[in-house]
Amino acid sequence: MKKVLITGVAGMIGSHLLDSLLGTGYKVTGIDNLKVGRMPNIKHNLDNINFKFVKCDILDPKKLERAAGDIDTIVHLAASKKIDEKGDAFNTLRINAEGTRNVLEIARKRRAKVILASTSDVYGVSRDLPFKEDGNLVIGPPTAKRWAYAASKIYAEQLAFAYFKEFNVPVVVLRYFGSFSPRASFSWSGGHVPLFIDAILNDKEVLIHGDGKQTRSMAYVDDVVRGTVLAMESPKAAGEIFNIGNDEEMSVADTAYLIHKIAATGKRLKIKFIPHKRIFGTYEEITRRVPDLRKAKAVLGYRPGVKITDGIRLTIEERRRSLLKAR
Ligand SMILES: NC(=O)c1ccc[n+]([C@@H]2O[C@H](COP(=O)([O-])OP(=O)(O)OC[C@H]3O[C@@H](n4cnc5c(N)ncnc54)[C@H](O)[C@@H]3O)[C@@H](O)[C@H]2O)c1
Repeated sequence: MKKVLITGVAGMIGSHLLDSLLGTGYKVTGIDNLKVGRMPNIKHNLDNINFKFVKCDILDPKKLERAAGDIDTIVHLAASKKIDEKGDAFNTLRINAEGTRNVLEIARKRRAKVILASTSDVYGVSRDLPFKEDGNLVIGPPTAKRWAYAASKIYAEQLAFAYFKEFNVPVVVLRYFGSFSPRASFSWSGGHVPLFIDAILNDKEVLIHGDGKQTRSMAYVDDVVRGTVLAMESPKAAGEIFNIGNDEEMSVADTAYLIHKIAATGKRLKIKFIPHKRIFGTYEEITRRVPDLRKAKAVLGYRPGVKITDGIRLTIEERRRSLLKAR
């Protein structure tokens, strides 16, 4: 039985990955500090004898090592995600850099394979579309806090490759593009799809940063989980970077119109466009984000399977149920 450590198990991707691994015969230890992740995301698995949950911070290397036990694979998802100008850049840099180092050290000692969650944010403002894994990473200046997330993930990627080349730790870097599910955080860090769904179901204003013409490629979480499992299981993946997500491109404004149509609330769609500068200062908006998925297809046999409309429908249905329950 393969033994896996998932960091960030109570978060969106981690909790769905847990469901998938337990359903296919893995033994899983999951850790989370529960600052963003939530116990309801994993509570249905707490009685499973093949799952152990430990509340633990990845910045505590001793506790993390004790929790890990003798694992074969680590899927490292715990991270502090994107921030705006009011956010805490120090925390993002520290968790994503130091925390990743602690995880890689355990992998070195245990000779475990590491799947590192990186992000499409590392491509930054590159115009070399669709983004390819060997393309240049073009990020903006450190005076804009928003780049702290991309910078921390670029550092984590470099560190992972240092462990691969210098300590023979098999690492795979997955650059996830945007993804969502009913377990996403319905706040800004969960991304625009859950935020818009929540606003529309609650008949509130949909807040769009800039003119809404910027495009994103959003995947339903099942596709991200499948890509992650393929990377875990492929003997050809070590030392490689893969884009994982969906390459269906859609503007942010069109996503709001689509959600409004699918939700069919009978209420008018209210959109408020907020000048980009007010939220992000000098941070330059990424106008298009599209992954080139050819490498993931060729090496891992990966191909996204859930259409954005179907993913949105599933997320709306579940969100509706939990809003009703909360009333
Ligand atoms: N969801 C996306 O669209 C997306 C896109 C690109 C990259 N990613 C990356 O994928 C990974 C998972 O993303 P997600 O959407 O599931 O995020 P999430 O915020 O839902 O989950 C992250 C989990 O990590 C935990 N965590 C954070 N800091 C921790 C710490 N110091 N110690 C222990 N646990 C800690 C949080 O409590 C949370 O449960 C992250 O590394 C993220 O950067 C996600």
